[in-house]
Amino acid sequence: MTTDTTGTAARDGEPRRGGPADSPFVRACRREPGPHTPVWFMRQAGRSLPEYREIRANVPMLESCRRPELVTEITLQPVRRHGVDAAILFSDIVVPVAAAGIDLDIVPGTGPVVAEPVRTAADVERIKPIARDDVSYVDEAVRLLVAELGDTPLIGFAGAPFTLASYLVEGGPSRTHAKTKALMYGDPELWHALCARLAEVTLAFLRVQVDAGVSAVQLFDSWAGALSEADYRRYVLPHSAHVLAGLADAGVPRIHFGVGTAELLGAMGEAGADVVGVDWRTPLDVATRRIGPDKAVQGNLDPAVLLAPWEVVESQVRRIVDQGRAAPGHVFNLGHGVLPETDPEVLTRVVALVHELSARPAA
Ligand code: CP3
Repeated sequence: MTTDTTGTAARDGEPRRGGPADSPFVRACRREPGPHTPVWFMRQAGRSLPEYREIRANVPMLESCRRPELVTEITLQPVRRHGVDAAILFSDIVVPVAAAGIDLDIVPGTGPVVAEPVRTAADVERIKPIARDDVSYVDEAVRLLVAELGDTPLIGFAGAPFTLASYLVEGGPSRTHAKTKALMYGDPELWHALCARLAEVTLAFLRVQVDAGVSAVQLFDSWAGALSEADYRRYVLPHSAHVLAGLADAGVPRIHFGVGTAELLGAMGEAGADVVGVDWRTPLDVATRRIGPDKAVQGNLDPAVLLAPWEVVESQVRRIVDQGRAAPGHVFNLGHGVLPETDPEVLTRVVALVHELSARPAA
């Protein structure tokens, strides 16, 4: 254990030792030394775990997100099983959008499906601001989890305006984001009005989670990699920056993540992140040069590698831990979410391996 608490502080401003604010995960996000490289996995709650499939058997996805006891149990499952350094709240990026008044469902095997896609000014008006009471189940789940987790940090999250806009405009998952881009290029004013509303919903949703006690937040702009850097800067960055700036005084690290974002890494950092998530296409030392020395990185094992023989997994994990040493802070993760067919035992072994490879003697 390290005894250095420089820069860590309890919520009342008093420095203190221990607790999630002094965990290896939060320390790495803050670019402070810690006992080992922390590790968690995007989409660790659910998917590959039999205990998750069992508990979710007869509960639709959106409904499970609205049951605090169920959310608590599912969020804790990967922490118990793998010994990951952080929990991530079990929810979905469309939960606050539904709370904002958009009629949508999460369809098994497909993902979010929106009853009436958002394509006109009148449609944008249907997206109402949200307050704590509209998502009280999230507030309650976070409080239950913080009490259960002890020193293990809980990560809150939300979808970024571009990724949310894509689901709303397309009406569901899309490979090309063609309708989304058609609106963005064809009616920039409406596009900005849509993203400004979504940014307020996202910010309010993250604020509820911060006020309830999460130790970090991750803004998922999963599909931002569909854009050029110039278009990202023009149409998307100001809205994501509004969300991240709105949390600058929250006292928790802000992680900003997208897929296929090699060309956007610098801009995604500039949007106001403390940690930039990197997918598997960009080595972490290269990513660090693009992002700069004042931000930590998170990533970046290809989730498909977990389906390969252990020798392959091991050598890729070694490479990533080594390349992560070039960054001023490294949170080990996958480059995108856990694939449902992943053997959970491989995830447990990866956690142990990352800890072993990165163990540092106490300061
Ligand atoms: O994977 C990412 O890119 C992260 C961002 C994101 C989430 N949901 C966060 C999430 C995105 C893009 C979504 C949309 C979504 N929601 C999809 C993808 C559809 C597409 O376009 O390809 C899907 C399938 C859903 C529905 C959903 N969300 C289910 C069925 C589940 C539970 C189990 C599972 O399959 O993962 C979720 C949970 C979820 N979505 C979490 C997060 C951060 C919970 C935390 C976790 O699982 O660790």
